[in-house]
Amino acid sequence: MTADAVIGPERQLTGEEFGWLCEYLRDRTGIELKPGKESMVMGRLDRRLRHHGLATYTDYFRLLAGGDPLENQMAVDLLTTNETYFFREPKHFEFLRASFAGFLRRSAPVQVWSAASSTGEEAYTIAMTLADCLPVGQDWSVFGTDISSRVLETARRAMYPIEAAEKIPPDLLRDHCLRGRDDYEGFLAIDRPLRQRVSFREANLIALPPGLGPFDVIFLRNVMIYFGPETKRDLVAGVTALLRPGGHLIISHAETLNGIAGSLKLVQPSVYQLPDPDGRPGDG
Ligand SMILES: C[S@@+](CC[C@H](N)C(=O)[O-])C[C@H]1O[C@@H](n2cnc3c(N)ncnc32)[C@H](O)[C@@H]1O
Repeated sequence: MTADAVIGPERQLTGEEFGWLCEYLRDRTGIELKPGKESMVMGRLDRRLRHHGLATYTDYFRLLAGGDPLENQMAVDLLTTNETYFFREPKHFEFLRASFAGFLRRSAPVQVWSAASSTGEEAYTIAMTLADCLPVGQDWSVFGTDISSRVLETARRAMYPIEAAEKIPPDLLRDHCLRGRDDYEGFLAIDRPLRQRVSFREANLIALPPGLGPFDVIFLRNVMIYFGPETKRDLVAGVTALLRPGGHLIISHAETLNGIAGSLKLVQPSVYQLPDPDGRPGDG
């Protein structure tokens, strides 16, 4: 075996370096890395060290600390976990449909937020569901945000490997998706009318930008699992303030708001509602 025929990352991450990285990621994103994630970190960052020809992680962290925005964005892109798919946790979309059954058309648009949208499948799933259940003539939109600019590029492109079609009910697939041809063989694209209802923007959940909301429904799924209790508490208070009275917050079945739900009421597993003092759920 030659000297450069090493399997896996060539540089080892020391305990001190891992500690620095945990602090860096927590401060920037709220994500808490658990002990034991050292090899995941090395697997994800090694290519950046290679790219810059750096010998140690300390050298790389110096580069990050120097403040280069692109490199810092790239590190966050690489260190976030972005798994998602169409109609993930289908009961939530059944709930969405049921919650708008009998909805009376109103002048204000119905607005739904996919608050950690990743590559966009959640936002487009919400859009397919709303397109199918809101009354004709009702204006509506879906807003997706994520901290990773890389996943947002995919979300805006709205083009997915054709295998993704297996998760989409056939009638919604027919109504809202196109099968790629020629150069796009093997892909499905979200059709333009649906895409025009959905917009994406970079936003950090631990430092929410001003001017968001109010939302009728907020999907905040599979992101709080990475956060510590204080960050979760602040985030839930922050997103609750962006709900319309009577609006809903939907979290993953794998998450809980025990002790931090504040004024939200649990209406079914993983679905919370902000009470409406006027008793008109979802209306506004
Ligand atoms: C596992 S994905 C969940 C995607 C989707 N919500 C779902 O349930 O399928 C988690 C997403 O949260 C994003 N994320 C992590 N920390 C964030 C933060 N502080 N602000 C905004 N997005 C964040 C990651 O970039 C990632 O795309």
